[in-house]
Amino acid sequence: MERKSIPVRDFRDVHDWDTVMFIYRSALKTMDTKIDIINDEFLKRHKYTPIEHVKSRLKSPESIVKKLKRHGYESNIENMVRYVNDIAGIRIICSFTSDIYLLADMIMNQRDLSIIYTKDYIKHPKRSGYRSYHLLITIPVYLSDSIVDTKVEIQIRSVAQDFWATLEHKMNYKFEGESPPNIANELKECAALISQLDEKMQYLNLEIQNYDKKTTP
Ligand code: GTP
Ligand code: MG
Repeated sequence: MERKSIPVRDFRDVHDWDTVMFIYRSALKTMDTKIDIINDEFLKRHKYTPIEHVKSRLKSPESIVKKLKRHGYESNIENMVRYVNDIAGIRIICSFTSDIYLLADMIMNQRDLSIIYTKDYIKHPKRSGYRSYHLLITIPVYLSDSIVDTKVEIQIRSVAQDFWATLEHKMNYKFEGESPPNIANELKECAALISQLDEKMQYLNLEIQNYDKKTTP
């Protein structure tokens, strides 16, 4: 049988909301599977899993509209696809900072993914104290008669960084961005403590691994 070449389309051909969300949902599913495979293979090769857990979510219609409004764009499919990068979002939580970089590398090496940008908020934390590694990628979604490259935002962070970000998010939500300076400052101090804790835990993990090597014949 002759192989047809399938055209790569973009969202210009998609006019209804349900189809757009279906494509983003499919992109999430494919990316989730890729992450699963990376984790399983890592376990086979290195006898441990770098990922604690993964959370993926589709942005709600209300949040998409709110974000477009905040940035001064009219709510339509063209603008959401162009300007809202986190309609499909995946958060990967790791135990150790070194695993964050390993995972980011493994994702970036996948041939069918295109990397739009990476943001290293671990080496360059935000003013708030926020630390995480972000990747914006596109993943091909195979439909019956076309392929659509679809954006997925991936955030990779440690358990401790996730704990911090959740509380900071709660604070921002409660005070609608006008957080009391004393609380914001104390949280920033916590971010620094967490960074020290992450470093120490990583060091101890290495000590434990090397200790095993020294003692087993
Ligand atoms: P938006 O913040 O989503 O408009 O995108 P951006 O262009 O500013 O990108 P950025 O990489 O800074 O943030 C993307 C996502 O990272 C956010 O939607 C949050 O989930 C998370 N994030 C970024 N900064 C912070 C922060 O200071 N605190 C917390 N808790 N989360 C943050
Ligand atoms: Mg932001």
